[in-house]
Amino acid sequence: MALASSSHLLPVFSQYPLEVAAAEGVWLTNRRGERVLDLYGGHAVAALGYAHPGFTAALARQAQQCQFQSNAVAMAVRERAAARLVAFAQLPLTQVFFVNSGAEANENALKIALRASGRVHVAAVSGSFHGRTAAAGAVTDGARAKWYGFPHTPFEVSFIPRAEPEAIALHVTERTAAVIVEPVQGLAGAVELGAPFLAALRARCDAVGAYLIFDEVQCGMGRTGWPFAANLYGVRPDLLTAAKALGNGFPCAAVLLSDALAASCPSESLGTTFGGGPLACAAIEAVIEAIEQEQLLARVQRLGAYIRAHCLAGPVSAHQGAGLLVGLRTRRKAREVQAELLECGILAGTSSDAHVLRLLPPYILEEEHVDMLRDALAELAP
Ligand SMILES: Cc1ncc(COP(=O)(O)O)c(C=O)c1O
Repeated sequence: MALASSSHLLPVFSQYPLEVAAAEGVWLTNRRGERVLDLYGGHAVAALGYAHPGFTAALARQAQQCQFQSNAVAMAVRERAAARLVAFAQLPLTQVFFVNSGAEANENALKIALRASGRVHVAAVSGSFHGRTAAAGAVTDGARAKWYGFPHTPFEVSFIPRAEPEAIALHVTERTAAVIVEPVQGLAGAVELGAPFLAALRARCDAVGAYLIFDEVQCGMGRTGWPFAANLYGVRPDLLTAAKALGNGFPCAAVLLSDALAASCPSESLGTTFGGGPLACAAIEAVIEAIEQEQLLARVQRLGAYIRAHCLAGPVSAHQGAGLLVGLRTRRKAREVQAELLECGILAGTSSDAHVLRLLPPYILEEEHVDMLRDALAELAP
């Protein structure tokens, strides 16, 4: 039987009309040698942009030294990456469990909270996206109707309506093990839940003895201009998950947890083969080193403000989000605007909100790149 296409990749992704052959800084180059300004960063991953010298050298150095040993073998680079991450976070979360992906980090965070509490229910927030595995998918809004694929969720789940702090008490009770929340919702279109809502979740968790999990897979690691959104909003979670920008493209993720919760994780209670591998840890170290040495948090804040001040042009009527997690509200369908921008050589993302264009650019972005976006938007039909 003839195949519909010559590709052997399972066709579960809709792809942009762009094939990348090389990349440097904030620029992608296609096979014809044409450059595209990348304001999407591979779904919020390429925080340092492409071909970053310090990052590239750190990976090459570690590959030459020793490319892999599992957690059964002590390695200095793993200890350094954990210490560096804890110091970077500036939160009372002092223990790190390294894994491979955002979904796996959330899966483990939920497992830790369920086991420590002995409870059966988890509350999430409407509009959430936490990943595609059994537990992470269970707390992703709409997943069960669309793509979940498992006959049952592994625990009871309910969703707190995102703009209704008064509904928190209904959903978070003495049966609730944990509340899991993205402080700034990514896929939903860069939606800030706001300090009052997050503080209300913290207060309710304290009142009923539930754990608060911040999923900072997309909004963490400097994306808001702060180490984590928890720092920006001044609300302390019990567990925090990080991925995406954490490795600048080398697959890795982390669960950060408090000493108290760490005490509930005995030896052999969690595990992974690849998590905390030396290449991943060298990547994490290099990312934090670059963010600190190049003062990228200040730059994220500055460029985030610059985008918001200058890009209300053409079809864009408003903006939302924090730092370089930007939602640009479009009068026309965001997908249309995205396609037109790509024709002008600018890659932007969309979101689950049909009228929000999502920007997740590298932190090394400069004002001149934003000016290119503004000029391109201004040329488009409103
Ligand atoms: C907030 C959030 N959590 C979890 C995930 C899942 O991460 P991964 O695709 O690495 O499993 C994502 C991915 O987009 C995300 O944005």
